[in-house]
Amino acid sequence: MEQNKNGRVAVIDSGVGGISVLRELIRLMPNEKYIYLADSKNAPYGTKAKDEVLSIMLENTDRLFKLGVKAIVVACNTATSAAVRVMREKYPDVPIVGIEPAVKPAVEAFDFPTVAVMATPLTLAEEKFITLIKRFDGRADIIPLPCAGLMEIIESGHTDGEVVDTYLNKVFGELGGKKIDAVVLGCTHYPFVKGAVQKYFGESVRIFDGGEGTAREAKRRICESGLESGRSADVPEIEFISTSGDERVTELCHKLLGL
Ligand code: DGL
Repeated sequence: MEQNKNGRVAVIDSGVGGISVLRELIRLMPNEKYIYLADSKNAPYGTKAKDEVLSIMLENTDRLFKLGVKAIVVACNTATSAAVRVMREKYPDVPIVGIEPAVKPAVEAFDFPTVAVMATPLTLAEEKFITLIKRFDGRADIIPLPCAGLMEIIESGHTDGEVVDTYLNKVFGELGGKKIDAVVLGCTHYPFVKGAVQKYFGESVRIFDGGEGTAREAKRRICESGLESGRSADVPEIEFISTSGDERVTELCHKLLGL
């Protein structure tokens, strides 16, 4: 572990989803060096059991420390709910930042809104999410929408078009025509289909995701630990790693990041 300013910031997800968080991190901290770990060998996380995701994440954490990282951003809602608490207990001195569905800003933007939360089945079943939505009892109608299979569609390179629209029509059909005020994209893959979600509901529905808030929290934790990079960079330095060795994953990472 390289607990100094020269260490890299690790960003991890089961695939390309965490790129939606990495782009916010780069915007806020362009001078940091990053390792992006796409754990495509173990993807998807969202339909696995919690204990399995936990042990996968502990293995990934050890791997990242061997690569010289000073902080870890778990850019995956599923892995955050399954593993972040244990990771922090194991490595109390390392800034480890997770992400959770942006339910709070969505509820607070309205007066008693109806909020649909799209996320993986595991995220929605976990204690962390149950506790989160309990905080808004009596302040909002929150409707969880498990989206098994959507990450795979995005991993195959589809961010709009017929495949995405057909999937979304099916999931949003579950709402039975109920009027929605806000949609929370509670999986880091879903910001890449934000346009298609907006198209389905129209411009009057607001869409929230946790990427920017997570990047702000990561910056706060890195600065607080005195670990911010002292260098000044013209272009972000990022190493992309796919655990399956499949280069299509790292190519899609580049493309989604706009590099
Ligand atoms: N991107 C991940 C999340 O934020 C989940 C995708 C998966 O199922 O692996 O929850």
